[in-house]
Amino acid sequence: MYVCICHGITEKDIQKAARSGVNSISKLASETGATTGCGSCLEMAEDILQQHASQNTDFLQILTPSKPYFA
Ligand code: FES
Repeated sequence: MYVCICHGITEKDIQKAARSGVNSISKLASETGATTGCGSCLEMAEDILQQHASQNTDFLQILTPSKPYFA
């Protein structure tokens, strides 16, 4: 699905950028150009980045033991 029509950026493009370390709208804009035209994609782009961040946090929580190994 296209998120940024002005620059032809899809949801998958934004998810790919997030996986490569893009974690803000300013970085996304500089990497892809998304949000730098009319700006109507801003809210959706933010949602996709936030969704990726929350999924990443869940992943990190899975890797972090809740109790020390030698307690
Ligand atoms: S739709 Fe993204 S800048 Fe216009």
